[in-house]
Amino acid sequence: MQISGVVALVTGANGGIGSHFVEQLLNLGVAKIYVCARSLGKLNPLVSLDPARVFPIELDVTNPQSVAAAATQCQDLRLVINNAGTSLNQGLIAASDIDSARAEMEVNYFGMLSMCRAFAPILKQNGGGAIVNLLSLLGKVNLPFSGSYSASKAAAISMTQGVRAELAAQGILVVGVMPGTVDTELAKEWPNPKVAPAEVARAALQAVIDDVEDVYPGEQATQVSAQLLSDPKGAEKYMAGFLPGMVLAGTDA
Ligand SMILES: NC(=O)c1ccc[n+]([C@@H]2O[C@H](COP(=O)([O-])OP(=O)(O)OC[C@H]3O[C@@H](n4cnc5c(N)ncnc54)[C@H](OP(=O)(O)O)[C@@H]3O)[C@@H](O)[C@H]2O)c1
Repeated sequence: MQISGVVALVTGANGGIGSHFVEQLLNLGVAKIYVCARSLGKLNPLVSLDPARVFPIELDVTNPQSVAAAATQCQDLRLVINNAGTSLNQGLIAASDIDSARAEMEVNYFGMLSMCRAFAPILKQNGGGAIVNLLSLLGKVNLPFSGSYSASKAAAISMTQGVRAELAAQGILVVGVMPGTVDTELAKEWPNPKVAPAEVARAALQAVIDDVEDVYPGEQATQVSAQLLSDPKGAEKYMAGFLPGMVLAGTDA
C-alpha cells in the first residue's frame, strides 16, 4: 500500500517507537497523522514537528469510551498503527499477585482488539487500508522475568491472525510486527541485544508498503524467529537463559 497521501493514526505516539513512527510517516508524505496518547500534553513535541499535518488525540486504549470517541474523530483514516503497549516486568510465578498480568492483558490484548474493532469499519468505508499491530518476539518465546507480558503478546499474535482472516476480503492488510528487545523505556531493564526503535518503525512501514504480513525487525528477532522454525526447543532455552541487565555479544542497537 502506498503511504504517501494517506491519513494515519499512531497509538502510544509519545513512546519510544511511537515517536519514530510519527517522524517517519511525515517523511513518507502522509496527508495527516492523528497522534494519540493518554495525556495530550505529551504530544506537544510531535505536533510541533508539523502543526498542519499532526493532530493530537487523547486516547487510552483500555477505555471503550475513549476508543469510540477517537474513532468518531478519525473518519478519514487508511492506516492504523496499534503501537501502545506496556510491560510491568513481572515473572508469572515471582509476581506477588496476578494484577500486573491482568493489566498487561488489558492494554496489549484487549486494548489492541478494541482498536481493531473500532477502526476496521472506518478503513472498510474508505476503500481499505492497513492495520499495523506492535506485537513482540516475546509473544512466541519467553524471557524468565516478564512472562505475563509474553502471554499478553501471544494473545495479541493470535488475535492479529484472526483479525487478518476476517478483514482479508475488505482490502485491509493486517501487519504483525515482532521485534526482539528494543532500546526504549519499556525495555530499559531488559538485557541486550537491543534493536533501535527507528529501525522497528522503518521495517514496519516498509512491510505496509510491500504488503508483507509478518515482520521481525532486528538481528535478534530475525535469528530467533528462524530458530523457532528449525529448533523451537533450542530457541526456548536460549531466551530462558537471559537475566535482567545481561549484556551479550551481537547488540544490534
Ligand atoms: N521495547 C521493546 O523491547 C519492545 C519489543 C517488542 C515490542 N514492543 C512493543 O512496541 C510497542 C511500543 O513500545 P515502546 O518500546 O516504544 O515502549 P514505550 O516507550 O514505553 O511506549 C509505550 C507507549 O504506549 C503507551 N501506552 C501504554 N498504555 C497505554 C494505554 N492504556 N492507552 C494508550 N497508550 C498507552 C505509553 O503511554 P504513556 O506514556 O502514557 O505510558 C507509551 O506512549 C508496545 O506495544 C510494546 O509492547 C516493545
